[in-house]
Order: sequence, then structure tokens, then C-alpha cells
Amino acid sequence: MTRETNEVTPRVKDLLRFITCGSVDDGKSTLIGRLLHAAHALPDDQLAALADDSRRFGTQGDDLDFALLVDGLSAEREQGITIDVAYRFFATAKRKFIVADTPGHEQYTRNMVTGASTADLAVILVDARKGLLTQTRRHSHIVSLLGIRDVVLTVNKLDLVGWSREVFEGIEREYREFASHLDFERIVAIPLSALRGDNIRERSAHTPWYAGPTLLDQLETVDAADHGSDGALRMPVQWVCRPDLDFRGYAGRVLGGRVRAGDAVRVLPSGKQTRVARIVGFDGDCAQAQRGESAMLTLEDEVDISRGDVICAADDPAGVADQFETTLIWMDDAPMLPGRPYLVKLGASSVGASFGPPKYAIDVDSFDHLAAKTLELNGIGVVNVSLDRAVPFDAYADNRDMGGFIVVDRYSNRTVGAGLVHFALRRSQNIHWQALDVDKQARVRQNGHKPCVLWFTGLSGSGKSTIANIVERELHARGVRTYLLDGDNVRHGLSKDLGFTDADRVENIRRVGEVAKLMVDAGLVVLTAFISPFRSERALARSMVEDGEFVEVFVDTPLAVVEARDPKGLYRKARRGELKNFTGIDSPYEVPETPELRIDTSTQTPEQATTAIVDALVARGIVRALA
Ligand code: ADX
Repeated sequence: MTRETNEVTPRVKDLLRFITCGSVDDGKSTLIGRLLHAAHALPDDQLAALADDSRRFGTQGDDLDFALLVDGLSAEREQGITIDVAYRFFATAKRKFIVADTPGHEQYTRNMVTGASTADLAVILVDARKGLLTQTRRHSHIVSLLGIRDVVLTVNKLDLVGWSREVFEGIEREYREFASHLDFERIVAIPLSALRGDNIRERSAHTPWYAGPTLLDQLETVDAADHGSDGALRMPVQWVCRPDLDFRGYAGRVLGGRVRAGDAVRVLPSGKQTRVARIVGFDGDCAQAQRGESAMLTLEDEVDISRGDVICAADDPAGVADQFETTLIWMDDAPMLPGRPYLVKLGASSVGASFGPPKYAIDVDSFDHLAAKTLELNGIGVVNVSLDRAVPFDAYADNRDMGGFIVVDRYSNRTVGAGLVHFALRRSQNIHWQALDVDKQARVRQNGHKPCVLWFTGLSGSGKSTIANIVERELHARGVRTYLLDGDNVRHGLSKDLGFTDADRVENIRRVGEVAKLMVDAGLVVLTAFISPFRSERALARSMVEDGEFVEVFVDTPLAVVEARDPKGLYRKARRGELKNFTGIDSPYEVPETPELRIDTSTQTPEQATTAIVDALVARGIVRALA
């Protein structure tokens, strides 16, 4: 924060953040080691250790093997951390640098996205012997999507192709042609040998035909765009500080523009307007805080603000919405499944979310738009997202921090994707909830019992339908209003268009969950008999109704038993390979961890199971005990 001054400090770009992108063998580690060395950023003891390691393990004879330096450091870090980016700091006389070092092999895209989201420039490495690879194109694509406009194309290992000018110029030409489809503003191509240090700091005698800058020259002088610094004020509140009743401070990082005492601000999502009273520092007030700085604000009026709210410039606030069109980059082995519940972290908000089917996926080689039902690992596509509640946002193009989000798997807590907000969808703004006079309570009074979902889950042939059918008969006889949604039947109508891929099963269960929710609102006891193999979607169905209204019944019949029964002959077909994606054979079944009821069909007859289930409904106060 700037102290005791009312002047707005001009933003001198004395710091350059960049990322290096390359495949494992392109020499990325060597290049970073070389840069650190050239900038004298390696402490003596580390250099001594490197010299020692190079002699013992290196591949470079008596020369320093810089790959060992960076690889040695990264090995320690590769220990199951979700996002694994090391930010290395170094400085030359002209500039300070932060390079995002993104190690990892199969997880490379994930790390790269994280590193690129804060970088001003990307160094793209190409092995002169291999030329452009799909990876090069994918990395360039991601770098462009994430808003980087400056690229240095380093054609590395040129020593291994005899310092061939033709090779260098051929790769440069091909890259420029490819990149003309991307949003780069500047591409500088440099012939290199990172291993030998050619064109890193000093001009190389091996490339007399090359007149451009060396790599460090370029990094020191490039006037990379400073994204979003002059936008309007955005400060997501990370922490509300209330040491006593007289003080209420809102702390967070300024993610756009700047703030000064007296500024008119609008707090989102509530939209309340007030002014900044003070910018509180550790020892006295500050005149202003600007993008990238952390600040604690007090406001003139008492406004109800909680974590995740965003303090914005009153005359240029962020938007607030719960549905967006986005570009999504998927980074998990398990594909993105439309309809599945995920968590999205956007700004300082963390919110439940699901994606629609991709409008299209992007082929990173040809830029073609491809039809896709899901997004696979490393897939990039345009997808609508729907959030559980409205959150403040900006388009990514306007503010990277306010329009970029990550996607987290609810169970593993892994980061599975990253996305960029294009714009809010208006459809949700034009649909309002209609209040109706006859409500659930009224229906419950008339029915004389509470509604619930009795959710049967288990393998095909486990006995779900059989038991559910007898339970419904019993409930019906007791005067309970019921409806049974059965897997095979629903697939004749509501889900006629769906098959048995993971994506289709997710959608099937999502629909059934929505229908069950409506039926609970109608006051019914809804019985559902679906394999429902994934816990994510069972949890989704559970979350759609109120606490206590969801009774999960796990019909626990072992695979060997259902296979021996094989009432429809489907297991035999699946074993013969005539039926693909069959649950238990070549499609997974995720066993419920804490079902309300577990039915063991090897020890219980369907009638006994029915008694247990009806008793449980009585115990829960859903239906009355028989007089
Ligand atoms: S779910 O996975 O989406 O919940 P659902 O319960 O609707 O499945 O449908 C399962 C029924 O479809 C099975 O009982 C079986 O009769 C039939 N079926 C046909 N193909 C498959 C398959 N590949 N996997 C499982 N069930 C299948």
C-alpha cells in the first residue's frame, strides 16, 4: 500500500512474470537453470552442489548439468499436491522476474494453466530436432486463452542440428502460421542452445545469421501488457475483522483498479452503496491501495458483508449472475460429465456448480470445433456453467482474477478443471420463481403423511425393482400416496434418448432426481429403482430435497449372485462382449458409504426387506404405524 501520499504511482513494469512451456525433453529445466545462472541468481552453495551433482549424475561431462538443478528441486515437490507450481524469483540489473516453473509430466497441463494465469509472457520451447508438437500447440492455445499476449518462441537444441538456419526459420514460419489463429500480439523467435548457453545472455557465435535479441535481452526489455491494472476497483472480501463492536474492517486483495478513502463503492452481490472511510494499515492509515496489494477497508455505512462479497467501484461494478458461458480446460483423468455436481472457485466465492453439454470442443491442432458430449483430459471446450447461487464476476477478458475459475471435484478435492468466463447468460435473469398458493405443507396436511424419496440403488438384477414394487404395494394398502420410478420404465420415456455411458447415466439420474424432487413437492412418497452407480449423482439427488426427506436403500447383492441369477441374460451378453459399459463388468458401481438402509438379499427375502423399509419409514415419522 502507498503511504502518506495522494499521488497515484505510475505503474512501472519493473517486474516481469513469465512461464516456460515445453514437453519433458525439450530442455525446460536446463533453460530455467541456465537463466538463473546467467542472472547470478544461484547461491554459491547451490552452485557447488550442482557442480558436484553434475560430475556424479550429470550427462554433460565436466560441464554443469542445469537440468539436475531444477529436476532435483521439483522431485521434492512432486508429492501429491494438487497444484504444483514453483515460482522462482531472480533479478538482473534491469528487471526483476518471477518465472512459473511448472513441473510434472502427465499433470503438466494442470500446472501450466495455474502458472499461466498470472504470467505476462510465455516462453515456448521447441526442440529443434522435433519441431512443433501437439503439445506445443496445446500449450500455446492455453497460454493464449489465459490472456498472455507476448510470446518468446525458443528453438532449443539448435546445436544438435548443426546450428541450421533453415531449421530455425522453418520452425519459426510454421509457428507464426499456426499462431495467427491465436490472440498473441508479439512473437519473438530465438535460436538457442540452453545447454551450452548460446543466445541466453550473450550473442552466440554459432548464429551469425540471427540479428534478434538474446533471451535475457528480450525478457529484460519487453513491454509486456499489464492485464487489468487500470480497470475498475474489485476487492473480494476474504476476511471480516471485528475485534470489537466499534470496528468493522474488510480485508482482501485488490484484484482490479485502486481504492482510496472517500471512494464511492458498491458491495456485491447485495448492490448496497456506501463510501470507503479508511484504508487501515498496521501503523496508520494508507492513502490508497492498488491492484495486487492487500488492504483492509472500513466503510462509512454499516453494510452487511460476508466473505466472498466483492467491493467494487460504485460507477463500474462487476456483474452478478449464476449462469455463464465459459471456456473450460479439463485436467482430470475422469472426464467432465455434464450435470455432475462440482465446486467452482471464482474470485473469493466457492459455489456448487454443474456444466451443460459442451457446445463444442476445440481441436488444438486444427482449431476445428468438434462435437463432444464430455471433455476428456486436456480437452478444451466452450461450455455453459450453472452455479447454485449468483456470484460477482467479470468477463475473463476484462479481469483475469474476477473471470477465471477453477473446478474442484467434491469428493477427491482435486482441481479437475479451469475456466474463463465469457459472459453471463441472460436466460436465468428472465425466469423468476412463481409463488403458488397451494404449497407442500397444504398437500402434506391433506395426504396425512410426509413425503420422501426412497432411493433404491444396487447392481442390475440385485432386486431393487422387486423390493420397491412390494414396498409400494404395502404403502398403498396403508393409504400412502406413492409413485414408483423404475429404471427400465423411465428409459422408455423420460430418458429414452440416453444410453449407458457415464455421461448418460449422470444425466439419467439428474433427471430422475429432478422428477423425484417435484413429486416430493407434490407430497408423495417416491420410490426410485435405478442402478445409480455414482455417488456424486446420488448425493445430487439427495441435495435436491430437504434434510430427512431422502432415504437411500442400498440393495447389496454381490456381483457373483446377480450374475448367477441374470434374470434378463444381460450379464452373459456383457461377458461375451456383446453389451458394452455394463455395470459391474466394464462400468463401475460405487458402493454407498452411508446409506440409511442396507438390504442384504442373501439373508433377507423381499418381504422381510419390505418390513424393514416400512418400519424405517414409520420410525422416521413419514408414515404412521398401523393401529
Ligand atoms: S443407471 O445406471 O442409469 O442408473 P438404470 O437403472 O436406469 O441405470 O438402468 C439399468 C437397467 O438397464 C438394467 O437393469 C438393465 O436392465 C438395463 N441395461 C441395459 N444396458 C445396461 C448396461 N450397459 N449397464 C447396466 N444396465 C443396463
